[in-house]
Amino acid sequence: MPLVCLTDFEAHAREQLSKSTWDFIEGGADDCLTRDDNIAAFKKIRLRPRYLKDVSKVDMRTTIQGEEISTPICIAPTGFHCLAWPDGEMSTARAAQAAGICYITSTYASCSLEDIVATAPGGLRWFQLYVHPNRQLNKQLIQKVESLGFKALVITVDAPKIGNRRHNITNQVNLMKNLLLKDLGSPEKGNLMPYLQMSPIDSSICWDDLSWFQSITRLPIILKGILTKEDAELAVKHNVHGIIVSNHGGRQLDEVPASIDALTEVVAAVKGKIEVYLDGGVRTGNDVLKALALGAKCVFLGRPILWGLAYKGEHGVEEVLNILKNEFHTSMTLTGCRSVAEISRDLIQFSRL
Ligand code: FNR
Repeated sequence: MPLVCLTDFEAHAREQLSKSTWDFIEGGADDCLTRDDNIAAFKKIRLRPRYLKDVSKVDMRTTIQGEEISTPICIAPTGFHCLAWPDGEMSTARAAQAAGICYITSTYASCSLEDIVATAPGGLRWFQLYVHPNRQLNKQLIQKVESLGFKALVITVDAPKIGNRRHNITNQVNLMKNLLLKDLGSPEKGNLMPYLQMSPIDSSICWDDLSWFQSITRLPIILKGILTKEDAELAVKHNVHGIIVSNHGGRQLDEVPASIDALTEVVAAVKGKIEVYLDGGVRTGNDVLKALALGAKCVFLGRPILWGLAYKGEHGVEEVLNILKNEFHTSMTLTGCRSVAEISRDLIQFSRL
């Protein structure tokens, strides 16, 4: 049976992967309320299509941080792609390059950054940083990604501590056997850090520390994990270049709003001064359309990319991206949007929000 939508890939991955890997990918924090709400919240929004416009040509291209992408559907940072497919992030990078979209590589990549770049030298890449307590390590890593041609530094702010993921506590020993972090060093034998906290994350980082990062890199800095207008205003004040509205796929603090529900307040707060993106629960072309209508410049996919990898590596990721791209093309066409610029709030039925 062909896989025709992203949830088909999810079902396939569930059958394919070991229980510990499946739990690691799919799991959320605590009761998984936010993880599930990310998906349910999209489904509560209704669309207002406009007809009798010439939609014989629909252009999905857009830009992020000044770089063109073929469609506003990109790849969120997720760790340990080798759990889903042997050459892990290298497959992901090739698929992203073929699709002409951006791939945010995680600090917890299981392939070396050099290998990821070498396998897809023409791809648009951003690097996601979990801030390490050792400033020198951060500096070395940031300078390395800059010299390797990564185009933006994405600092994840919603993880001063890893969320309470019950399944990882139960399964941690199995998972650890598979993991090798080439860029931060593999975990020392006998020193298995609990809760998959492979490398410590600096929980003391504050807004004022951002200027240090700005002083050591010319890369635009994007903050990932912002959910409130207060933090969005501070992000603008501290001269960051973008925000990813995200709740980490419901894996950090449970019972925060779905990403799509937090988007409107963040977009309003930044007043167009910086780009706002969204991840969390994007599974269909209509989801992409809704996020853009509510002000996101593009969306990022987390779990669906890992499902694609588990299916057929690079080609599985390509299939996931193509399906979503085709669905988004249909969503644009059927709502009367000929270009991404024509996707506006008028497409959303506010009474249902
Ligand atoms: C993540 N996420 C994540 N975020 C991050 O900043 N650095 C990381 O290393 C990871 N690793 C990671 C692993 C796995 C298995 C998952 C599922 C998620 C969060 C990710 O970037 C993104 O915010 C969510 O996955 C988006 O939600 P969906 O698309 O999975 O619903």
